[in-house]
Amino acid sequence: MMNATLTPSTAPRDLAPAKGWSADSWRGKTGLQMPDYPDAEALKAATDRLGMLPPLVFAGEALDLRRRLGEVAQGRAFLLQGGDCAESFSEFSADNIRDTFRVMLQMAVVLTYGAKLPVVKVGRMAGQFAKPRSAPTETVKGVELPSYRGDIVNELAFTPEARIPNPHKMVDAYLQSAATLNLLRAFASGGYADLHRVANWNLGFVANSAEGERYSRIAEGVADALDFLQACGVTPSTAASMRSVSFFTSHEALLLEYEQPLVRVDSITGMPVAGTGHMLWIGDRTRQPDGAHVEFCRGVLNPIGLKCGPSMTTDGLLELIDLLNPQNVPGRLTLINRFGHDKVGDHLPALIRAVESEGRHVVWSCDPMHGNTIKSDSGFKTRPFERVLGEVKSFFEVCHAEGAYPGGVHFEMTGQDVTECTGGMQQLGGEDLSKRYHTACDPRLNASQSLELAFLLAEELEKTAPKHRQADLEL
Ligand code: PEP
Ligand code: CO
Repeated sequence: MMNATLTPSTAPRDLAPAKGWSADSWRGKTGLQMPDYPDAEALKAATDRLGMLPPLVFAGEALDLRRRLGEVAQGRAFLLQGGDCAESFSEFSADNIRDTFRVMLQMAVVLTYGAKLPVVKVGRMAGQFAKPRSAPTETVKGVELPSYRGDIVNELAFTPEARIPNPHKMVDAYLQSAATLNLLRAFASGGYADLHRVANWNLGFVANSAEGERYSRIAEGVADALDFLQACGVTPSTAASMRSVSFFTSHEALLLEYEQPLVRVDSITGMPVAGTGHMLWIGDRTRQPDGAHVEFCRGVLNPIGLKCGPSMTTDGLLELIDLLNPQNVPGRLTLINRFGHDKVGDHLPALIRAVESEGRHVVWSCDPMHGNTIKSDSGFKTRPFERVLGEVKSFFEVCHAEGAYPGGVHFEMTGQDVTECTGGMQQLGGEDLSKRYHTACDPRLNASQSLELAFLLAEELEKTAPKHRQADLEL
């Protein structure tokens, strides 16, 4: 994101506008999971305003991310995607952004060490507001109201007024995203991402345990590598890649009323680009091939993610790949698998065989969150750490068995010390969940659980680290 520049001579040649597509062609299709705005005038005022505001990202950045994901698709880099389930207006603060950014960089360092490959870092940030829901309404004590759909649509409070979709919230979400992205850009290039500082992590959670010693081995390995580089004269002041990072943003392209006015035509490639974030993904509930969300995403040049849950069939997947990546460009499409820890083996092998035998280039990524949500005895939605880890491990095993490259992971996580997922070395139990349960939507891994997971993943990655490394991407 920081050092992306694109000149006409370097613009990829495969870019061609999608046939029959326009920024509003999705309106001719069925659009699930979007609100009905009761006030048409207010909706027009809000979308007109968004249409006048500058895009948050530009085409060259989206293409830079696509190129990096192309490296992932070809087994030469690893994808780390993570952040809130839903960003919120009330939890918005510089500290929250900083802490999530820092934990993601720390995870990336650990994964880089394990995989011996560059790690592409993509936040679920600066635009991840709109949420699909399992039911359009919610009933509490006999009162039925529209469901909460994220702060970009309505409010969490259980009152009739709060649940009315308010289009002006799209402008508020845009402004919060702009401020978030501004800070992320500053952190990424302004010194905060200095590798020595990032690797100076708090290993408080590993003290005095067998697992802790395993993590310390990797942490010491990173420290040794940095000392060695320093002795060779490679330091943050001599090597730009040690003092700045590339960091990209992503969100589910669910609320198309928000996406449409921020589509712009890139003056260099002539291609439409979604201006709301670098990468967009299509959720598991809105991926109908003839639906509005697939229609919108097929026409923008940004890298696209596609969530694949247990209902995805091989034919359905190939049809979606044809629609979303007809030119088979590596990096254009990331398949984000989310089956549940005990279901990966039932679904993933067939999908991999179908895709690989047809020679389709995709990134295989694992979201071990959305298939592992349970209700604790105390009534909170939670995710047991061991199931999250279990799904990632099964994902790696199946990919290896089927000859596919396990290219990335997708987590709901935060840099805060919340108590939303059980387990991990802190041994959070169901009774701890009420202490700091802050999410407005799905339960997130906290800072220590996220870092712990990165250490465990690094061990997996070490087993298969390539013999010949290509280091043409910065960390
Ligand atoms: C999400 O990523 O927050 C989400 C709703 O995921 P899925 O579409 O996979 O259920
Ligand atoms: Co979620």
